[in-house]
Order: sequence, then structure tokens, then C-alpha cells
Amino acid sequence: MFEYEDKNWCEKMRIRLDFNNVMQDFIDGGFSQKNFDDLSEKITNAANQLDSKRANGQMDWRNLPYNQPVDEILDYAAQVQKNFESILVLGIGGSALGPIALQQAINHPYYNELPREKRKFPKFYVADNVDPERLVYLFDVIDLDKTLFIVISKSGSTSETMSQFMIIKDMMEKELGKENAKSHIVCITDSEKGNLIKIAKDENYKTFYIPAGVGGRFSQLSPVGLLPAAICGIDIKELLAGAAFMDEACKNNPQKNIAAMYATINYLAMQNGQNITVMMPYADSLKYISDWYTQLWAESLGKSVNNDGKIVNVGQTPVKALGVTDQHSQIQLYNEGPYDKIITFISVENYRETITIPKIFEDMPTVGFLGGATHNELIQVEHYTTERALAKLNRMNMTIILPHVNEFVIGQLFYMLEVATAFAGELLNINAFNQPGVEEAKNLTYGVFGKPGYENKRIELENVLKKNQNYFV
Ligand code: PA5
Repeated sequence: MFEYEDKNWCEKMRIRLDFNNVMQDFIDGGFSQKNFDDLSEKITNAANQLDSKRANGQMDWRNLPYNQPVDEILDYAAQVQKNFESILVLGIGGSALGPIALQQAINHPYYNELPREKRKFPKFYVADNVDPERLVYLFDVIDLDKTLFIVISKSGSTSETMSQFMIIKDMMEKELGKENAKSHIVCITDSEKGNLIKIAKDENYKTFYIPAGVGGRFSQLSPVGLLPAAICGIDIKELLAGAAFMDEACKNNPQKNIAAMYATINYLAMQNGQNITVMMPYADSLKYISDWYTQLWAESLGKSVNNDGKIVNVGQTPVKALGVTDQHSQIQLYNEGPYDKIITFISVENYRETITIPKIFEDMPTVGFLGGATHNELIQVEHYTTERALAKLNRMNMTIILPHVNEFVIGQLFYMLEVATAFAGELLNINAFNQPGVEEAKNLTYGVFGKPGYENKRIELENVLKKNQNYFV
């Protein structure tokens, strides 16, 4: 079992970046040390900017590994484990993707299907869409009476989350009575701003807070990620310890630290025309890390205006893929399509299980040749051969190497990718922490449904050119 004081263990768990296959020694058109040296002033400025923003209290998410109410979360989680059969997270975007990614990474892939004595903790569900079918069908599998609803919204005003909350509150109160319903609802939101905190106070719901300066997609190490994880038996102390370990690593010289290097390579790639970044873990458990990362990278870096007010329309389109599954679909395009992608693999050195292919069909060597090998070897060899095949065709790729998949390692990975995103934001000279493009659709929706203060948005939509029937077929 991990102890934070055990430095050797931490070193063994350190995540690393192999970027050989973006360098010109390995691929034609790859980067040289000179490319990095030419950027060194910009890189140093980016690192200094991040440090000074942190020192000025503008990067509260960097402090989450150290200042979260872990004991309160664990106490509350212990009560939930005793009293409930299921938890349902109501949230969207940054308020849902992190909890899903963490659950999938650490817990059994068929967690919900396991019998309670094996699973030990409540079942885990997330409702991160307003697809009416999905929510209605969910009520076929959860028992309201035995479910805790975790309402997560930083702004406390997101239509999707608040509408789900309204539906559930109403159902719960009808089924259990107003007083009983209260113990089935916990809110995670800003401590002062937004409607959710007002409602939580009025209704006397249990509440955890997202620190004021922490935006949705950077909130995974706050109660947003920690509470659902703790309820499902995930060791949140190790998760935070991993993040703190990575925080130390991120203080190194930018050309020696993984987050800054990951950001710099992607920045160079963008300058070089690789406007698509593929995240391809070789582990089912990490499939939803790609979903989480996709939001983080896209929403943070896709910006029209830079910090000097100039129109720049920058960003790199993140794409999710899964090894080895997508070797049989997307890889064809990555090997032979346009040179517009850089691929990041995530490899796992030690899987939690081993399975051996039996030595059968020995009289049919074209099938039997796999006999005696393990799936562990097969998946690792396939990652290696895929990166080789890409490199042979001069396709940029790199690999984030995870020694194991456990809380400490995943804490490092979350934190590393968050710092890398912020670093890339500095290199691009944009604000990585706002999301005006997301707000616009939110505000138009408010206008359509008549939210006070958004009347102009409704008028704006009413004045949109009517759709031309000739353009339907
Ligand atoms: O990263 C972000 O800020 C967004 O993706 C938000 O997380 C998302 O829009 C949900 O917002 P909120 O947590 O305020 O309901």
C-alpha cells in the first residue's frame, strides 16, 4: 500500500513522456533540439507567467492537491456507503467527465454489475445529458428510495443540470416526502454564486464547495471528482498525493518537465500544421480519460481572440481513440491521410491482470502462433508496432507511459494534463480558463426558455434568417 513518505515507491510510479517519434532523428520533418531552443524564451515566459498567476491567486486549481476537505468527504462518503445502493451524478462537461474518467480508470470495468458483496460500495451512475430517453430509462434501474443524487454545477445555473435536478427533486418529494427527500440530495457548487447554492441553503441540503477560482474542467481534484470517487471506494488521498507529486515535477526546468514538454510539443505541432491531436490510451480503463482530456484541451485552447485582443482563431482539435480497438478503424487514416495529426498514446507497463492465450491449434501455425503469449504482451506489442508503423510513415506520435493504473498515477495524469493545458494556453497567448463559445449557446437557450435577463437572446434568435426549404432534401 502506498505511503506518501515512501519516495522510492513514488519514483517507481512516476509517469513519463516518450517523445522520440516527434524528433527528426526518428521521422522526416520531425523537430530538432534547435526548434526547442528557438522557443526557449517563449517557454520560459510561459513558465514564469504561470508561476506569477499562481502566486497572485489566479490559479486556485493548482492548490487542490493540498487544500481539499478530505476528512469531511470521507466521513460523508462512509455514511453514503452505509445508507445507499446507488449514486447518480447530475452534471455536465467539467462537472461530469472527471468523475466518469476516474471511476472507469480505477474501479472494476463491470463495477455496477458486480454483486454488492464484491462491489462493496454503491453503484455509480452519471446523467450528463438531457436526452429524455436516457433519464427515463435510468429510473428503470435505480431505486429512488436507495439513491443519492449528487448535483454538481459550478455556476449553479446550467440548464441541463438544473432541469435534471428539478425533475429529480419533484419526483423524490412526491415519493418520499419533502423532509426525507433532503437526505438524498447533496450539492457541489460555488460557495456564494449561483442559484444552486441559494437553493441548497434554503432547503438545507448537504453541500460541498468548488473553490471560487476553479473552473469546471479544472475541478476534478475538488469535491467534484473526490466525492463520487470516495463513495465508490477510490482512495482520494492517494489521488491527491499523486497530483502533489506531479506538482513538484512541474516546478522543474520546462525542458525537463513532462507537462511543459507535452504542451511545447503540441504547440510546435500546431505551428507545423498538426491541428489535430489524438489521445489513444492502450487500456480500456483509460478510455474516459480521453473524453475528459478532449474537453480540457478543446474548451481551454479553442479561442478566437488572444490576450492582446487580436483575432487568432487558435486551438487543436482533440480526437479520442482507443488502442488496440481503433487500430482497426482510425489508424488507416492516421497512417495514410493528411499530415495534420499528432498522436499521443498512453501505455501501461503493468496491467492489473494477466491472461494467457492457451496453446491450442498447434497444428495450425497461422492461428496457433499466439499460443503461450499473454494479452498483456499482445497489447504492448501492438502499441509498439503501431507507433513504429506511424513513425515509418513520418507521422508524429508520442507516448505517456504509466507504470500502473492506480490512484497515485491517475492523480499525476490529471494534474499533468491540466498544467500542460494551461502551459499551452500561455504559449498560444490566450485565456485557457474562459469558454465564451460555450456560454453563447447556454445564453441562447436561456433566451428561448424565457430566463429573465436573456430577452435580447430570444429576440436575436427570432431575427435569424428563416431556414430555406430548398436546402432540405
Ligand atoms: O469547463 C467548463 O467550465 C464547462 O465545461 C462546465 O464544466 C460545464 O459547462 C458545466 O458548468 P457548471 O459546472 O457551471 O454547471
